[in-house]
Amino acid sequence: IGTYFWIVSISAVKSSTEEHTDVKRSDFPHGFLFGAATSAYQVEGAFHEDGKSLSNWDIFCHIDGNVVDGSNAEIADDHYHRFMEDIEMMESLGLTAYRFSISWSRVLPRGKLGQINQAAIEFYSKIVDNLLLRGIQPFVTLFHFEFPQELEVRFGGWLSPLMQEEYVYFAEVCFRSFSDRVKHWMTFNEVNLYAEFAYERAVFPPLRCSPPFGDCDSGNSDVEPLIVAHNILLAHGQAAKVYRERFKSKTDGLLGITVSAFMYVPLTDDENDKEAANRALAFNTGWTLDPLVFGEYPPEMRQIHGSELPRFTAEQSLLLSKSIDFIGINHYGTLYAKDCIHSGCICNDSSCTAGSDRAVRGFVYTTGERNGIPIGERTGMDRFFVVPRGMEDIVEYIKERYNNMPMFVTENGFSYPVEEDESFQLHDVGRIQFHRSYLAHLAQAIRKGGDVRGYFVWSLLDNFEWTNGYGIKFGLYYIEHPTLKRIPKLSATWYGDFLSNSTIVD
Ligand code: NOJ
Repeated sequence: IGTYFWIVSISAVKSSTEEHTDVKRSDFPHGFLFGAATSAYQVEGAFHEDGKSLSNWDIFCHIDGNVVDGSNAEIADDHYHRFMEDIEMMESLGLTAYRFSISWSRVLPRGKLGQINQAAIEFYSKIVDNLLLRGIQPFVTLFHFEFPQELEVRFGGWLSPLMQEEYVYFAEVCFRSFSDRVKHWMTFNEVNLYAEFAYERAVFPPLRCSPPFGDCDSGNSDVEPLIVAHNILLAHGQAAKVYRERFKSKTDGLLGITVSAFMYVPLTDDENDKEAANRALAFNTGWTLDPLVFGEYPPEMRQIHGSELPRFTAEQSLLLSKSIDFIGINHYGTLYAKDCIHSGCICNDSSCTAGSDRAVRGFVYTTGERNGIPIGERTGMDRFFVVPRGMEDIVEYIKERYNNMPMFVTENGFSYPVEEDESFQLHDVGRIQFHRSYLAHLAQAIRKGGDVRGYFVWSLLDNFEWTNGYGIKFGLYYIEHPTLKRIPKLSATWYGDFLSNSTIVD
């Protein structure tokens, strides 16, 4: 089965990327950064060690049915104890950057109420120092879906504006501890996806849902994702101010944010579907980026939501506008968009496979198929279809909308659709083809003038893929269980070769 799948999958990737498959490091500008990414909860483990408190995810994973394989990240990749080995792997690949996140529950176990956990500061400090020693630029994300459970209990998480103060304090502690060495900061990871998964689709903690997803009779309202994003954006604005006023000058650093950035193309040539694709883009990336660049939500969102969409005061607008120095793009795939305003899509089933995503995409039905044919190769993740051209298009879209602000591709990666044995996983030719073709289109976007400055593979290591547990693997390195030994996949060898400009593995 493995070999058969491998042949089919490679030919599928090849046919969809005919235009650009060859790519060399020298196709990218001088100084362009090549890295890999992880996040604290997904790799660290040591969930209750050295003063760390339980996080929202530590609690969530213990409730039956929340994670497909019933797993959790209490040990994960044990990166907390093995970070030196991991950094040495990065060095051996020739990475020039590494993106990771700082665990809030490790640094401030009780939020503002308690003490700063010095063991946590030392842990991240060692990571930063050891990266720099090897010429690897640290890219730090402050919020990657994880925070002390106590804050969920005390405030009700991000539905409460009180989380803003808590977050700004956390951000300040991190800036104070690391901004003398860390030059690139991302305040939040994928605000749009977080609000959608945690407060609309009831997938991530705290499992809130909004119509038409799930059983929403429990009083949840469809404005919750909008409120959550609003609180997060305001927290970002205040943290950005603190950074610019007190810490930026230490290294002339840059502060940005990352967005989950799907590309959307119209399902048909119908003008309404074309508009729906534009609306989907505005609701997806514009939701976060418009406020942080222009100080207002996208007009496309205001038109649909009207007064349901919170408003920024003049002062808040000023605080938010121009509050990022770069845009972090997490890009995996492309989806079709179909208009649901004029053609009335039906959406009343709990999984909403045939409906419109009202709260987050503005009456647009999104799908990966047309007449039963996928838009690109299927992967292990729902909605992640392989469409390399989408990389060029999403960069172009963001470049146009935001006046070519500096961009980094902060995540791009591939997982196989089926769980395969170890030798199949290690011989991951599909992943190599994926990165080559996406990189080729990224190089093309840069040739067309896009100011993209770096690219991060998701992920360095196979890790805990949230509610998908450990079955879905994105890593350049395989983690053997139970030894947790890191084994380089063929893709790791390919990436290393690509970075040293030597022959590309075919
Ligand atoms: C986006 C998220 O930032 C990351 O945590 C996740 O593992 C990958 N995408 C893959 O789904």
